[in-house]
Amino acid sequence: MSVTVRVPAKVNVQLAVGAARPDGFHDLANVFLAVSLYDVVTVTPADALTVTCSGPDADRVPLDGTNLAARAAELLASRHGIEPRVHIHIEKDIPVAGGMAGGSADGAGALLACDRLWGTGSSPSDLLELCAELGSDVPFSLAGGAALGIGRGEQLSSLEVGGAFHWVFAVADGGLSTPAVYREFDRLAAGRAVPEPAADPVLIDALRAGDVNALAASLANGLQPAALSLRPELATTLDAGLAGGALAALVSGSGPTTAFLVDSQESADKVAAGLLASGTCRAARVASSPAPGATVLGD
Ligand code: C5P
Repeated sequence: MSVTVRVPAKVNVQLAVGAARPDGFHDLANVFLAVSLYDVVTVTPADALTVTCSGPDADRVPLDGTNLAARAAELLASRHGIEPRVHIHIEKDIPVAGGMAGGSADGAGALLACDRLWGTGSSPSDLLELCAELGSDVPFSLAGGAALGIGRGEQLSSLEVGGAFHWVFAVADGGLSTPAVYREFDRLAAGRAVPEPAADPVLIDALRAGDVNALAASLANGLQPAALSLRPELATTLDAGLAGGALAALVSGSGPTTAFLVDSQESADKVAAGLLASGTCRAARVASSPAPGATVLGD
């Protein structure tokens, strides 16, 4: 018997970042939107905890105890005083180390799948709490849709989305370390007052109305200057997507994936082709939002 769970990627349509806290994390107003790129996590009983991964970028995924899916299985097992005797297979379609929460998706997926496999019967709020222990973005990977995350991004309230939004994601060569991007944020902010992060009501209204032009005008990522400081060439990718017809462009989360909001599926295909032809990215992926959260397949 095995259990399979499908989990979406995310883009941050607003990421307002506050000053570093004493614990090293940053308070956020983080508006997450799940997009239709998915990893599929399958768990099967085994003698010991093992992880395998397939997909075009599989060789970039760590298969040891640092993998969030493995940590999720260990965390759930330890909560219930059982051994995590499970094999986890990840079919990876979310760009790796990209600011799209691919690792978090695998953590949320493995947690839900193991809970079903082991019959540990966690409630949705139990699962969200365990997700928050695994990482700041993991609760949203479980929840999907759209949500405002405050605190370090893990305290979620869901948001209404009034229509479909279309996106192109440009996948950069190599990754960017999230802690390194936050450290660069701190370096750039040194000596300046960092305002308390707050959700932008105009952006929340744009999501609720399904108004793509209003959303394009209000997209904002406070980590973008830090990501561009570490990877200046990402500015060329942003320019290439805008020149190709995107309504707006921004770095996705801590990067290096860049996100382009477009007005239709047709524009998405055109912008993706233009980005690839520009030679400023390794791959271009088309997706729409909102996407559902972690879903047990076959239920
Ligand atoms: O929570 P997560 O493990 O995903 O965070 C990875 C790193 O990103 C943290 O160790 C921290 O350096 C940084 N981070 C932060 N503030 C947040 C979320 C993450 O500084 N709200």
